[in-house]
Amino acid sequence: MAKILPIRIYGDEILRKKLKEADLKDPFLKQYLPDLIHTMYERDGVGLASSQVGVDLRIFVMDPWWAREEEQKNPRVLINPEIHDRQGEQIGEEGCLSVPDIFANVNRALKISYSYYTPEGEHIQAEAEGYEAVVIQHEYDHLNGVLFTDRVSTLAKLKFKMKLKSMAALARDGVNIMQYPEDPQ
Ligand code: NI
Repeated sequence: MAKILPIRIYGDEILRKKLKEADLKDPFLKQYLPDLIHTMYERDGVGLASSQVGVDLRIFVMDPWWAREEEQKNPRVLINPEIHDRQGEQIGEEGCLSVPDIFANVNRALKISYSYYTPEGEHIQAEAEGYEAVVIQHEYDHLNGVLFTDRVSTLAKLKFKMKLKSMAALARDGVNIMQYPEDPQ
């Protein structure tokens, strides 16, 4: 059975790490990947990166078109991904499970070309645009210790600067895991 992994919140050090390349043969992945996918869906995410659950590996999962009401799941696991080319520009509102209650407009490339390994070891080269490209860029940033709030203009950041500060202070005090109301205390 896949389990829900605890989500690390803003201020936790691992969210700022450049994560390590994953070894496709690592036996840890066998249980971990289903857990990561399960956690993404249970927390209503369209993407989830390893650092967000405290794991130092260049792996993220995504399902940009998933909506809980429709239950049409199509999860993708991207291992050691690379973004090779970025073109054009788009601006859209983003949020992040690790940065609760903050949403802001972020500038992203409109089109990207990227590659990754599947859990089966296949090397995939692909292109994405629009919303799918946003999700990939957001999750890929996580692998390099970058959060969407880093990409918000200084002026727009004023609105939630204090919120970030108090989250970071809580994390320093060891409150670095997101509590969900539906979870048993
Ligand atoms: Ni995120």
